[in-house]
Amino acid sequence: MITVRRAEVGDVEAIRQIGLVTWPVAYAGLVSDEFITDGLAQWWSPEAVERGIRNGITLVAAEGEQLIGIVGLGREGDFWVMWKLYVLPDHQGKGVGKALLDAAVKALPEGTPELVLDVLVGNDKAIGFYRANGFREAPKTPDRDLGVELMWMSLDLQTA
Ligand SMILES: CC(C)(COP(=O)(O)OP(=O)(O)OC[C@H]1O[C@@H](n2cnc3c(N)ncnc32)[C@H](O)[C@@H]1OP(=O)(O)O)[C@@H](O)C(=O)NCCC(=O)NCCS
Repeated sequence: MITVRRAEVGDVEAIRQIGLVTWPVAYAGLVSDEFITDGLAQWWSPEAVERGIRNGITLVAAEGEQLIGIVGLGREGDFWVMWKLYVLPDHQGKGVGKALLDAAVKALPEGTPELVLDVLVGNDKAIGFYRANGFREAPKTPDRDLGVELMWMSLDLQTA
């Protein structure tokens, strides 16, 4: 059985492992090896993961004792942004991503109008997942320049 719960500081290492395993598989061929190495160092360091738990909303999916997926949201200006949604490769396609997304939406403060995210252009698997789950191209977005092509998507939470 899969359960989704709020992450605790004691989960930092297990969350990091999800990034370290999933990123290279998800992004091979889409971005440079350097982008993957730098991104893991910047966004999946123990400090960055702990900051996400303390300052934002981080939820984990667990199967028994093992953490198999993670979603991370944070506030950026007027926006709530989903910065991370990653399911271990062996556990993808079984509803874990959807369970994390649903729990993330529920965890947002009441009245939040939309949830936005950025996804690498070319990450068609993720874009397909987001479209299938109600995300559309975002008209308004936070500023972010990573030196790679990003697509911003938005989930309308007002008319849902
Ligand atoms: C993208 C990701 C989070 C999705 O999680 P998942 O657990 O594999 O997806 P789920 O099994 O929960 O899919 C839920 C629903 O979306 C649909 N779906 C999933 N991928 C899809 C796709 N590429 N196109 C269309 N629909 C898709 C599923 O059919 C399912 O719908 P159903 O319940 O009606 O059958 C996961 O595959 C992942 O971690 N990918 C690699 C990392 C990544 O790219 N993350 C996003 C970074 S922006």
